[in-house]
Amino acid sequence: MSTFVSIFGLGYVGSVTAGCLAHNGIHVMGVDVNPAKVEAFNAGRSPVLEPGLQELLAESRDQGRLEATADIRRAIEETQISFICVGTPSLPNGKLDVSVVERVCEQIGAALRDKHARHLVVVRSTVLPGTAEGIALPALEKASNKRAGEDFGICSNPEFLREGSAIVDFLEPGMTVLGSQSAEDVASLRELYSWVGGEVFETTLSAAEMIKYICNGFHALKIAFANEMGTVCKRLGVDAEEVTRIFTADRRLNISPAYLKPGFAFGGPCLPKDLRALSYRVKELDLELPLLDSILPSNAQHLERAVDMILRLQKREVGLFGLSFKPGTDDLRESPHVQLVKRLLGEGCNVRIWDPNVALGRLIGSNRAYIEEYIPHIGSLLVDDPGEVIRGAEVIVLGTPSLDKEMILSCLSEHQTVVDLVHLSKAERLASNAYHGICW
Ligand SMILES: NC(=O)c1ccc[n+]([C@@H]2O[C@H](COP(=O)([O-])OP(=O)(O)OC[C@H]3O[C@@H](n4cnc5c(N)ncnc54)[C@H](O)[C@@H]3O)[C@@H](O)[C@H]2O)c1
Repeated sequence: MSTFVSIFGLGYVGSVTAGCLAHNGIHVMGVDVNPAKVEAFNAGRSPVLEPGLQELLAESRDQGRLEATADIRRAIEETQISFICVGTPSLPNGKLDVSVVERVCEQIGAALRDKHARHLVVVRSTVLPGTAEGIALPALEKASNKRAGEDFGICSNPEFLREGSAIVDFLEPGMTVLGSQSAEDVASLRELYSWVGGEVFETTLSAAEMIKYICNGFHALKIAFANEMGTVCKRLGVDAEEVTRIFTADRRLNISPAYLKPGFAFGGPCLPKDLRALSYRVKELDLELPLLDSILPSNAQHLERAVDMILRLQKREVGLFGLSFKPGTDDLRESPHVQLVKRLLGEGCNVRIWDPNVALGRLIGSNRAYIEEYIPHIGSLLVDDPGEVIRGAEVIVLGTPSLDKEMILSCLSEHQTVVDLVHLSKAERLASNAYHGICW
């Protein structure tokens, strides 16, 4: 049986979605408030300039699979799935304006009042997490007098196309993300996309909405970072192309998921020192590189989040697992755990620490000098028995993944709170009454 889809908003996203779906045998009805766009669609002309789109639209229009209308009732009555592809611009203060998404939902909802068959509404416009559930869904329910999940479904399906290569991006996407509240809703969307390349991810509505922002945030970060590094290279007379080529060739740590897992602040003998050195050199060169300069303050803020999280519990007896800056080393230099201990002691907490890699007697050189300057009496806080750390604590801070979880579990009482800084997987988490992940 053919699938009939309506597309609300015939701008870049709507036109490309319409052209690509129609090209793959789906019947598409475009809807736009702009009569010129409706007219262009019906004439088989593309309302936007995008390589290859004109041909796709003309071909589908000629084969009877593509038309456009301003009649919303007809679009809802004659199709099974509606994609919302309207604009979501910035307001002058930066806030996202989702008023058009809301208005379209009200219009679709009003048309759904008289429709008996189940309909699926898909939010494809870029919207912040919670919009599908908190704005689109209530608007649809109110206007239709029907219930989401029962009479109609709602999904989130963010668009990842890039203008200029939008058709290839649609047909061979890096990924397809389908957010929903129910298996029934997502099944018809999965079926609709069965022919596109790349991996399909099914998730919640808000996770799907957030993925779009993480992607765009990361892409923007990469561009700004590359531009700042190129700027330093140029000023230092270093070949930026050569540096970038070699930098991106490392697929283990550089172009990879490494370091992209939410966790605790970074530290250790290299990253903070090297960032400071580069920032200082940049200042000497009279350059302004705000992204580079923002990394250490961002890291310090993350450390403060851990301090706040622990202090807000209003419990003073803290047990910390892990002191060195990462597992498998006894290096304490610029360890964020050491800084965390110092902050907590300063706030009046009592802290006991277990880290089998750290034996103060064995520390030598700059590592020893660092800890003696930073927390001279740290020796009195370190204990050999991990059970002792738990027994005396009201808050247990997990700062290393190298934990004997069974032992911890056997000592843990229901009054104790766990603060996780290392991002244990859900399966690994301790069955504690109170568990707080620092940023998850
Ligand atoms: N352009 C991109 O490269 C791109 C890529 C990914 C995601 N997005 C997101 O997709 C969404 C759409 O972006 P765009 O660039 O296609 O926008 P656009 O401004 O080009 O198109 C929006 C269309 O919606 C129409 N419209 C407005 N109100 C309407 C209504 N009530 N009913 C029907 N149509 C209506 C407008 O007339 C216009 O044709 C935005 O949320 C955007 O952030 C855009």
